[in-house]
Amino acid sequence: MRNIVILISGGGSNMAAIVRAAAREDWAARFKARVSAVISNKSDAKGLVFAKEEGIATAVLDHKAYASREAFDAALMQAIDAHAPTLVVLAGFMRILTPGFVDHYAGRLLNIHPSLLPAFPGLHTHRRAIEAGCKFAGATVHQVTAELDHGPILAQAVVPVLPDDDEDALAARVLTQEHLIYPRAVAEFLSATK
Ligand code: GAR
Repeated sequence: MRNIVILISGGGSNMAAIVRAAAREDWAARFKARVSAVISNKSDAKGLVFAKEEGIATAVLDHKAYASREAFDAALMQAIDAHAPTLVVLAGFMRILTPGFVDHYAGRLLNIHPSLLPAFPGLHTHRRAIEAGCKFAGATVHQVTAELDHGPILAQAVVPVLPDDDEDALAARVLTQEHLIYPRAVAEFLSATK
């Protein structure tokens, strides 16, 4: 069985969408793959509750307990590698990763970003899209490379920005699409690396 490790920092709705797709689409049979662990840098990340209920191993590594980004990433790598992952999935993991971490998982590290990259890398994507007068917004699944929110694009979803949208309304519309494209992109990755 091939292992997928998912990193989260909060709600974990993308992680849950991937876990549900894996069950619904029988990834164990189709791709010999399963979500084997969910790791968070926040002990109160709500997604941890769902993962535990699903019987998935969970771990918490509080980044504040480490003296440097490098020390945190080294500990994180150790926790991830305990599961010998085929794929590491960033799903609302709100930490900037060191080049050493990114190199270590080169070619098997995916991220979802809530904008139509290359537009709006970084934070507050929905607010910035509204302020810029964008008529469309969306989300991007991409391979992670050393440069933040760059890397080859695997999937995108587009939604309209409506005249009365505030940040939350737009974020909710985009998130619904994230839940569709991220599981699909992970399945495509697993299929291509069978
Ligand atoms: C998602 O919208 C994801 O695209 C975004 O955080 C949210 C996490 O939601 N990620 C980033 O902003 C990464 N820079 P979730 O925890 O419910 O999946």
